[in-house]
Amino acid sequence: MPILSYKILEKTKPNEISTTGAEEGVLSILIKTDNEHYKAQVYSELVANRLAMFLGIPVAIGVPAKHSETKDRLSFASLMAFEEDSEIYDFTHTDYRSLEPPRNTPKGILQGMDHLQEVIKLTKLYPLEIAFLTVFDFWVGNEDRPYNFKAELSKGNRGIIFALDHGSSLLACKSTIDGSLERLNQHNYPSFHPFQKMIHPLYAGEMIERIVSMPDWAVESATIFDEAIGNVTPVDQYALFETLKVRRKYLRQQIQNII
Ligand SMILES: Nc1ncnc2c1ncn2[C@@H]1O[C@H](COP(=O)(O)OP(=O)(O)OP(=O)(O)O)[C@@H](O)[C@H]1O
Ligand SMILES: [Mg+2]
Repeated sequence: MPILSYKILEKTKPNEISTTGAEEGVLSILIKTDNEHYKAQVYSELVANRLAMFLGIPVAIGVPAKHSETKDRLSFASLMAFEEDSEIYDFTHTDYRSLEPPRNTPKGILQGMDHLQEVIKLTKLYPLEIAFLTVFDFWVGNEDRPYNFKAELSKGNRGIIFALDHGSSLLACKSTIDGSLERLNQHNYPSFHPFQKMIHPLYAGEMIERIVSMPDWAVESATIFDEAIGNVTPVDQYALFETLKVRRKYLRQQIQNII
């Protein structure tokens, strides 16, 4: 797959002590913070990003960030993709076309879904990435996938596809941390996925295998920090770590139900 690049907004000046010609500059980012409805958004974005990186899931990278005026408040900065040189289809926009479902739509898919024709094309072009992403969403409890990915549809299967926005998964799948843990402890959650009935069983199996055999130390290092991240205390972080280990055991059954 071609490399996903991020967008430099401005190059400001040469770095004074660089011996290799490094320049200082500004990247385009989307800054996300914890709020009343998403109390653990920053932590959940960070953890989903770390887990995805380990597992080889195509997600846009994000980093923890602080602003000099509000140093105490940790944000998640989602690095905005450089889209100018590619024809990336924006699945994140609401689709006002309300198309009739195309003929021969697979049975059991979400019929009322936006961008249905493009989603079907996407699942045919990128069966591996779509299966990987779907299995991952079930593990991290992400019901918010329908509008949260972008992809090139015009380059056959040689284009870019990337997911973004995990701010409603993990400890932010409900508005409170306790509510989210309760949700994650339900083994039939999530109950649906935009790619259901369209995923390739072999590729899904491969990602299940990767998640199930992911070493505990790797899950731990992705979920546990030695300090609170936004509203999420180390105790909450340990609770998520334990919950994710349990959720792995139900992944096979969950995916079997949507294949
Ligand atoms: N890394 C990225 N690269 C390109 N576009 C991005 C990136 N991150 C976010 N966006 C764009 O910004 C929009 C808002 O980002 P995001 O979905 O993370 O925020 P949100 O507050 O959770 O919004 P929503 O509730 O609509 O999903 C996305 O739908 C997408 O169009
Ligand atoms: Mg979004």
